[in-house]
Amino acid sequence: MSSTHTEPAPAKLNLFLHVTGRRDDGYHLLDSLVCFADCGDVITATAHDDAELTLAITGPMAGDLGHGNIEDNLILRAARLLRAEANVTQGADLTLEKNLPVASGIGGGSADAAATLRVLCRVWQLDIPTDALEKLALKLGADVPVCLHGKTVLMQGIGEKLIDLPELPSLSLVLVNPGKAVSTPEIFAARDAAFTEENLWDRTAKFNSGASLAAALQDCRNDLTLPASGILPEICDVLNALAREDGCLLARMSGSGATCLAIYDTENQAERAANAIAESQPDWWVQATGIQTMQDRARAQIGASFPA
Ligand code: C5P
Repeated sequence: MSSTHTEPAPAKLNLFLHVTGRRDDGYHLLDSLVCFADCGDVITATAHDDAELTLAITGPMAGDLGHGNIEDNLILRAARLLRAEANVTQGADLTLEKNLPVASGIGGGSADAAATLRVLCRVWQLDIPTDALEKLALKLGADVPVCLHGKTVLMQGIGEKLIDLPELPSLSLVLVNPGKAVSTPEIFAARDAAFTEENLWDRTAKFNSGASLAAALQDCRNDLTLPASGILPEICDVLNALAREDGCLLARMSGSGATCLAIYDTENQAERAANAIAESQPDWWVQATGIQTMQDRARAQIGASFPA
């Protein structure tokens, strides 16, 4: 009997990202406030009794993934790794609905890999302890453990230290990508500023509005903005376009870019900003969204997808 499950792969947002050091192996130590958006990719898996693993890609951004070898896709790498580590004999047909821009600083491939691990644990009926699954996730990439965790956290180390934080208030966000992919290793390599001090964020702070959170975030930044905008100057255009709109409380790049996010005072202002930017820049990817709350995560556990 085949079993099919669907798992959301929400966009990962870095509300700030400080680079605090570099390990001997070249990976950078980070201090980053990470939360998850209400939009993202979606992974579906159907288990079957022969050992084969297949991947089909659909969705508006599917074309941007079509150039590489599909066997190298992080989703199939995640599936192969899980199957080997958990001694699974079954296979699975996987489908990725690609809604997020590729290589864009909001998780993309990492969110897809994390959702693949979650969905395959369900269809293969695996009961793997969280810390073992997070270790496996780290083998797939530094951002995969945080995407597997899926909750608002302070992320440290290279991405493996996840410190839970009080729930954030609901946020009225707009995400904008200028339609060009950037290379994460290239951006880390171009960074030459001094390292930022660790632990600048108050882990006990609670916020009752987007405005109070945005005010606290003003003391932080994304340390990769300068190197990323040196490589892709359109990032500055995106930040300016977001900041110009009424009600913008904070505009900031996420991850290694090029996607930027802005927090607006009200949902109406976020909607209006998204419409205005989409109209003036038809080649950009523009998305008004919110962040995942505890209720959203509870719904996701019972198999819901993103709201239409
Ligand atoms: O781990 P992942 O494959 O996602 O990382 C891609 C590249 O980004 C790494 O090879 C490294 O150059 C850089 N990186 C880093 N420090 C991190 C995360 C990524 O230097 N914490």
